[in-house]
Amino acid sequence: MSASADQPKVPRHVAVIMDGNGRWAEKRGRPRLFGHRAGAESLRAVLRACRDHGVEYLTVYAFSTENWVRPADEVSGLMSLLKTFLKKDEHELHENQVRLLATGRLQDLPDSVREELERVIAATRDYRKGNLILALSYGGRAEIADAVRAIAAKVRAGQLDPETIDEKSIAAHLYLPDVPDPDFLIRTSGELRLSNFLLWQLSYAEFYFTETLWPDFREAEFAEALAEYARRHRRYGAHA
Ligand code: IPE
Ligand code: IPE
Ligand code: MG
Repeated sequence: MSASADQPKVPRHVAVIMDGNGRWAEKRGRPRLFGHRAGAESLRAVLRACRDHGVEYLTVYAFSTENWVRPADEVSGLMSLLKTFLKKDEHELHENQVRLLATGRLQDLPDSVREELERVIAATRDYRKGNLILALSYGGRAEIADAVRAIAAKVRAGQLDPETIDEKSIAAHLYLPDVPDPDFLIRTSGELRLSNFLLWQLSYAEFYFTETLWPDFREAEFAEALAEYARRHRRYGAHA
């Protein structure tokens, strides 16, 4: 039996860089926020598709540490869209028993957004039928820097012997240590880069890039991506 025959055909954890909202809106002569709103519909569609296909974890890059430099009206528009999403879609999370989690420098979010986020996280904490992880004010390097700072503080306090630091203990200090690494990364809109997303966790993920802009990425496009994943042969450094 070949190694690939043993590999699950459905990724347990899918990570998505939801890119192209602005270009989608510009093509229609509409403001960028119109694209972000349409992008929120794609998130709803992909979340439903995850349930239908049996994907346990969905992590979406919703706002990066770098996105704070965008014009103030776009940033505030994105923040209010996020609040709307949390309010409007909370019932879907309950109906489908989906747990909400967040990753990133959440302390940088406006208080009203953070409070709403924390409220829904607490309200869904016991669900395990699915997991939706919002990456917010997230940066891969920031996450690693925060982990290093936490580890260094433990060393200084005499709680941790530097000789024992290994990959496992570093991973244990990342924002969501209990979430398995993504198996599959999707980036829409034709850009071929990571843009500082999950640098540590994506070490062995399969990558999928599509020209489709995020607001056009719905159930059918997601199913197509999963079909491509099923054809991949993950080797993890072993021989073919
Ligand atoms: C992705 O779409 C959403 C966020 C980064 C918040 P963009 O806003 O980056 O859209 P493009 O890349 O400019 O088309
Ligand atoms: C990455 O998209 C961040 C999110 C999707 C939230 P960007 O549009 O910010 O990335 P760059 O600027 O093209 O690298
Ligand atoms: Mg972009």
